[in-house]
Amino acid sequence: MYSVLKGTHDVILDEARKYSYVEAVLIKVAELYNYKEFRTPIIESSDLFTRSVGESSDIVRKEMYTFLDKGNRLITLRPEFTAGIVRSMVNNKLFANMDLPVKAYYVGPNFRYERPQQGRYRQFNQFGIESCGVDNFYRDIEVISLGYNALQMLGFKDVKLKINTLGDDETRENYKGALKAYFSDKINLMCDDCKERFEKNILRILDCKVPSDIEIVKEAPKINEFLSENAKNNFQNITKALKEMDIPFEIDTNLVRGLDYYTGVVFEYQYSSSKNKNYGALGGGGHYGKLIKEIGGPDLEGVGLAFGIERLVSIMNDDELFNDIAQDLDIYLMPIGKESFEEANKLTNFLRLNGFSVEVCFENKNMGQMFKKAERRLAKYALILGENEIKDKKVELKNLKTKEQIEVNYDDLIDTLDNLIDEDEHEHLD
Ligand code: HAM
Repeated sequence: MYSVLKGTHDVILDEARKYSYVEAVLIKVAELYNYKEFRTPIIESSDLFTRSVGESSDIVRKEMYTFLDKGNRLITLRPEFTAGIVRSMVNNKLFANMDLPVKAYYVGPNFRYERPQQGRYRQFNQFGIESCGVDNFYRDIEVISLGYNALQMLGFKDVKLKINTLGDDETRENYKGALKAYFSDKINLMCDDCKERFEKNILRILDCKVPSDIEIVKEAPKINEFLSENAKNNFQNITKALKEMDIPFEIDTNLVRGLDYYTGVVFEYQYSSSKNKNYGALGGGGHYGKLIKEIGGPDLEGVGLAFGIERLVSIMNDDELFNDIAQDLDIYLMPIGKESFEEANKLTNFLRLNGFSVEVCFENKNMGQMFKKAERRLAKYALILGENEIKDKKVELKNLKTKEQIEVNYDDLIDTLDNLIDEDEHEHLD
């Protein structure tokens, strides 16, 4: 027996349908905002992530699935999308050839070697967007509000949107200096990760989850005291626009996020399910001022966000936000006796080509057994086909809810079914 690898999980049957539903809603919202789909490779050169996500991030330090391929190239399974999406925009010269901003949405698996726990997997799915090439705070607003509105459309109430700004270069230099001064005589009391962050990226100390460290962080200087005039204006513009759009938010000066490419505004969507389980943030993102250039593109800025599909689905299960996810079956086709199988096979094909979902019983069962199978599959209609029916080119059609049964000629079958089964519930494949 084999089981799934630690930190991975099968998404099957109704659960898979929920994933598809959530993804479809998110894609629909992205398309309302005129984002276009990007599908980039799962494998990328390791260097891409080291440079963009950053050497001081947990992802690069300890979570990447990295291996040498047979050509001795160092390859990594993507731990996130942003770096690959921006790489593809640069490689495909979209900044030169497209009207800006280039707006991408994406869905798919990511891989991080994390300690598996509730809401945290080693293979997990993200939906996200990137808006690249125009530096205008309305572009940040568009991304933040898209995320908020998408959660509303999925049925989430009381989403907590936390936002912060990491300012501009001047702000960060001054702020880092102040943090160095504050932490220098406390760092030896803090966790090993913080000791490393102190050297490599001191901002990340603010994000530490170790309780005794949190106490020390509480008293640390806050970034808002160090914002340059530009950075202050930018952040004020963003918070003002959010208020005008009636999007509630909370400023959290300790929110720094775990990826090094952010500059300017950063944000996270948090939510506690009715079962009070903590799955971690539903999603997050921010502005990146230097990433595009870092990856070899022009000196342009971008902004994006990503949601974790697993977390969305877990919470929607807890809070019963999925209704009627069952997969419809229009017709259960019941051939009477093996002699009818050939005709049943043809008729099934014909019905499917006309856009009806059909299951057929080739297990040579009696009528009672076949009706049970039809019910178990939640079919709307049973279509009975015996030798006599085949001879007369007709079928018996039984509504499994009302138990009403009618006789229908082959020639009238599609029209009859079209009338009986709501037109918009199925699509003709012609
Ligand atoms: P992130 O915060 O690392 O950001 O991930 C975004 C979301 O992915 C998280 O809020 C969470 O829902 C989900 N997620 C992350 N790790 C796991 C895991 N191990 N298991 C389950 N779900 C997980 C990014 O990835 C950035 N690329 C977002 C972004 C896009 N920033 C700018 N553009």
